[in-house]
Amino acid sequence: METRAAAPRRLIVAITGATGAIYGVRILETLRRLGGVESHLLISSAGWLNIQHELQLSKEDVHPLADVVHSVRDVGASIASGSFATEGMIVAPCSMRTLASVAHGLSDNLITRAADVTLKERRRLVLLVRETPFNLAHLRNMTAVTEMGGVIFPPVPAFYNQPSSIDEMVDHTVARVLDLFALGPALSPAWTGLRGTQD
Ligand SMILES: Cc1cc2nc3c(=O)[nH]c(=O)nc-3n(C[C@H](O)[C@H](O)[C@H](O)COP(=O)(O)O)c2cc1C
Repeated sequence: METRAAAPRRLIVAITGATGAIYGVRILETLRRLGGVESHLLISSAGWLNIQHELQLSKEDVHPLADVVHSVRDVGASIASGSFATEGMIVAPCSMRTLASVAHGLSDNLITRAADVTLKERRRLVLLVRETPFNLAHLRNMTAVTEMGGVIFPPVPAFYNQPSSIDEMVDHTVARVLDLFALGPALSPAWTGLRGTQD
């Protein structure tokens, strides 16, 4: 047992089986670079399929990016309890299956249990939902999670910052996501308005 005052700052990061595994991996890399936050990693079976397919990375590559790695089947893990203090949880990317499970409070694996705990403790839950186009079930599930206090954050790239690479697009989204947790100075530059020609 630990006292709340002594608890380190922790963030739960889950990678599920939607396309865009790079988002979860880049979040872990960024947290490692920033320091000061203990990352707890969860990766679903389908999440691993996409990590291997899209990034050609193995467990040996990804696990060291996190401070603690949990099995998705380990529903007795620390992060399954609200008494284990965290800053919240990011699911990046978030599949429609995991979204549906969170929306319906199923807690059918450690990812959806940790998300359920995050919501019940009124901590920040951010889901980088990824699918296109959406059907009505997807939209209703996103509404339900929003009503419960979660943040639906589809990783839609921005162009106003004139990115010159996919890496820059990913970094921009990751900065906006992490800024939602106010872990330190803002990572994404504030928009200061358009300058230049207007009619
Ligand atoms: C290559 C690949 C890409 C996929 N992309 C998506 C996607 O973008 N969004 C989605 O909701 N599901 C996607 N899926 C399907 C999910 O992986 C599948 O529904 C899985 O059961 C999700 O399980 P999980 O939520 O436990 O990770 C994809 C599957 C594969 C193999």
